[in-house]
Amino acid sequence: MNSRTTAADYVEDVSPGRGALPPRARYASSDAVSLSLNGGWRLRLSATADAEDDSFAAPGYDAGDWAQVSVPGHWVLQGDGAFGAPAYTNHLYPFPVDPPYVPTENPTGDHLRVFDLPEDWPAPAGGDDAVLRFDGVESCARVWLNGTDIGEFKGSRLPHELAVGALLKPAGNVLAVRVHQWSAGSYLEDQDQWWLPGIFRDVTLLHRPAGCAGDFFVHASYDHVTGEGTLRVDSEAEGRVTVPELGIDVATGEPVTLPVVPWSAETPRLYDGVLATAGERVPLRVGFRTVALEDGLIKVNGKAVLFKGVNRHEWHPERGRALDADTMREDVLLMKRHNVNAVRTSHYPPHPAFLDLCDEYGLWVVDECDLETHGFVEQDWRDNPTDDERWTPALLDRAARMVERDKNHPSVVMWSLGNEAGTGRGLTAMADWIHSRDPARPVHYEGDHDCRDTDVYSRMYLPHTEVERAARGLDGGSLRRRQLPLILCEYAHAMGNGPGGIADYQALFERYDRLQGGFVWEWIDHGVRHPELGYAYGGDFGEELHDGNFVCDGLLFPDRTPSPGLTEYKKVIEPVRIEAGDADGTVRLTNRYDFADLSHLEFEFCHQVDGLPAGAHRLTVPPLAPGESAEVKLPEAPDGGGAEVQWSVRALLAEDGPWAGRGHEVAWAQGMVARRAPLPAATGVRPCVDGDRITLGPAVFDARTGVVRTIAGVGVRDLRLDVWRATTDNDDGAPWQSDTRYGLLWRELGLHRMRHRLVAVETDDDALVVRTRVAPAGREMGLRTAYRWTSDGTHVRLTVSVVPEGDWQVPLPRLGVRFGLDASSTDAVFWFGGGDEAYPDTRAASRDLLWDASIEDLQTPYVRPQENGARADVRWAELGGLRIEGEPEFWFTARPWTTERLDAARHLTDLVPGDTVWVNLDHAQHGIGSQSCGPGPLPQYALWAEPAEFSFVFSAQPSSG
Ligand code: GAL
Repeated sequence: MNSRTTAADYVEDVSPGRGALPPRARYASSDAVSLSLNGGWRLRLSATADAEDDSFAAPGYDAGDWAQVSVPGHWVLQGDGAFGAPAYTNHLYPFPVDPPYVPTENPTGDHLRVFDLPEDWPAPAGGDDAVLRFDGVESCARVWLNGTDIGEFKGSRLPHELAVGALLKPAGNVLAVRVHQWSAGSYLEDQDQWWLPGIFRDVTLLHRPAGCAGDFFVHASYDHVTGEGTLRVDSEAEGRVTVPELGIDVATGEPVTLPVVPWSAETPRLYDGVLATAGERVPLRVGFRTVALEDGLIKVNGKAVLFKGVNRHEWHPERGRALDADTMREDVLLMKRHNVNAVRTSHYPPHPAFLDLCDEYGLWVVDECDLETHGFVEQDWRDNPTDDERWTPALLDRAARMVERDKNHPSVVMWSLGNEAGTGRGLTAMADWIHSRDPARPVHYEGDHDCRDTDVYSRMYLPHTEVERAARGLDGGSLRRRQLPLILCEYAHAMGNGPGGIADYQALFERYDRLQGGFVWEWIDHGVRHPELGYAYGGDFGEELHDGNFVCDGLLFPDRTPSPGLTEYKKVIEPVRIEAGDADGTVRLTNRYDFADLSHLEFEFCHQVDGLPAGAHRLTVPPLAPGESAEVKLPEAPDGGGAEVQWSVRALLAEDGPWAGRGHEVAWAQGMVARRAPLPAATGVRPCVDGDRITLGPAVFDARTGVVRTIAGVGVRDLRLDVWRATTDNDDGAPWQSDTRYGLLWRELGLHRMRHRLVAVETDDDALVVRTRVAPAGREMGLRTAYRWTSDGTHVRLTVSVVPEGDWQVPLPRLGVRFGLDASSTDAVFWFGGGDEAYPDTRAASRDLLWDASIEDLQTPYVRPQENGARADVRWAELGGLRIEGEPEFWFTARPWTTERLDAARHLTDLVPGDTVWVNLDHAQHGIGSQSCGPGPLPQYALWAEPAEFSFVFSAQPSSG
């Protein structure tokens, strides 16, 4: 049989590559020179792996007519579409599953860069005194320097170094890199993200002087019983280790034990040190901490920690996974400012600079290997590389490249084998190797439900009930698994509006020791900036296979603006719990940090009268130790005299800190002191029928339909019952969900096209009553709805009564009224109630105050438009000349387009404000849940169709006269 062999056979070879040096610790030398090769490179793109020969790699080749791209970068995100396009799939391979083969159509980018050595580059000492380091190339690269083939490698988000000392010239060095989009390595890189080829991380030439440090391993442990740390630096090259602040000066390999301040994510104490070998000095940042599995819990420095984490993919809306230093810092600062204490580097080791930031600012890191083979699930995991020994060298190579690069980071507290790669011998081999190389860190992998290879029982998207069962030890599983803590490496799927129910998860995490928290999926929406669409998602580039906006499921919008989900998460995981105390007029404060006391915080207190803060005071709170509580007496509350009185306490940073300034709020709470008086009955005035109009106090109605036309002279359009919302990603649910997906059912039943049959328009001595039946075509069930209007001459009160009829098997999306106001006179809204977007199970961060916002500001820009922007607990709102008070409090939403337009839009750019502002006043909303990849709303947040009655009192907006 003949087989086709080409110069590009290595592309489909399962081996990790040829020519790369053994992996080693990542460090920046103090004195060895280096040269960044980032910048403009020449690019020639071809359609297949072997379309061009390697003559371009030879010195003297004229690439003058090639395009220019930036390195680091992905070529598909450069050149305005001239170099192909990104493609998004969740778990399906975008090519036939035929391992290790990849399509003949294999976009291949030949990259060229000519460079001179800087003047201070030491004269060649012969041999390997220089290495060329690639921090990340997707997915397979072959490298030539000055015409010599020096190797090829796979493992996109892992470093590779090649020895080049013997090849360097003082000037005119030609570096040629051929990058193939697809390779055997692609089978190991099936993460849920955009497929983005290119040299997307730094390229650096490093001088390696004789006697350089090479590889070294900093072991810095902490004994919480003695308060002492032990430092030992094992180094390939002998030398001395100094930490001046601690008076340490020891030989490499020699341990030293002495009192230290330990490192934790809350108190990231680092000691500057130096490793000096014969050939170079290497700065060290030493953090003393011990991670151990003890009593079935992951403990750091003797304490079980609670992970309040996020899953972070690397993402920038223009540069993809080519992240700059500022973006990485912004991620860390945003995490710290939102009370996040942990990050899983889903699903590959991040740019190394990110881990430096985690050490410095303090985040627990689960460092995950660049491995996912999820697409094999489609064939019941047949041929899965993680259970096929031919691939094991590649898996071990990936594990080693991660561990060796990142082992000296105190922030890394767990290694993760990868994600969604099935089970198999290859994974066991990785775990065994990691355990032996670094016994001081637990190993994580979610796919190992029996915990054969892992030190923590990890699951994703478990419903609350199952989390609780596991917490109580009722979930079964292997003995080993039952002896391990449970963490949710992914939960609370933040796609679109949501996630709902995180407060309920957190309550479980805090209640049960076995639960050590979780990591919200995920940190940021991977929207791609697009000239026409705003942000593009799957399918927007004409992909043959794609998973739509499933790639936009983050707590940050693509431009890193926090979404309401992040505000909610910040509140839910706040490190100080503030609640009403047992005694009247007191609050109880609980320190929920694992390590820090509260001395870095100051507390601000005020009473709010009808939402207006009445003077702020300092509240003296003892510097509680972790886990401690104290009850603190509040100053006397003012007499509201019928007004609503609330207390408010805020915990603020007392000093400027590394990640936020003094006054930054870390926790807050409000509580009720006196409720507002009931609204005026608004009765006494008779409806007056006058031809085709009915007048009732300040309101005028159409006598035939009973529909209100004006209130206090303000035109009101189409006021009627509304139950529909533009379904959220969580309403629609994921296709594989076995639970009922209400978003689909609602649409199937026709809740988006309810008809309003007028039954009667009745007037009596003090009321106008309009009776209707609201129901969808083709169905028997409906909502008998009565609108009862009364007035005292100045106010008009609407009481809506709803009685469901027929067999309602589904909850309602919402229940309330909607109407339109003239957009030209409705640009600002004032209200008393919750300030941020909230729904029944996303309302922890809803803070009652007086607010004002433009209509535009009230919209939450979910990348795929959907229901958004409701404000909870609104007592009153003023807009467009009207004041609206609610009894009880209501959910307020206003938008410059209809719900139907919102529902139909695919991108934000599809939404254009019209001449009407549409206002929803809702008595109730259905919860949000997390069903886009997890459980739906908990039963207590479902809005079942039941008899309901609610009122709104309308009058002229005072400020508009
Ligand atoms: C998980 C997976 C993630 C992501 C998420 C859904 O199964 O590990 O990578 O796909 O689901 O957004």
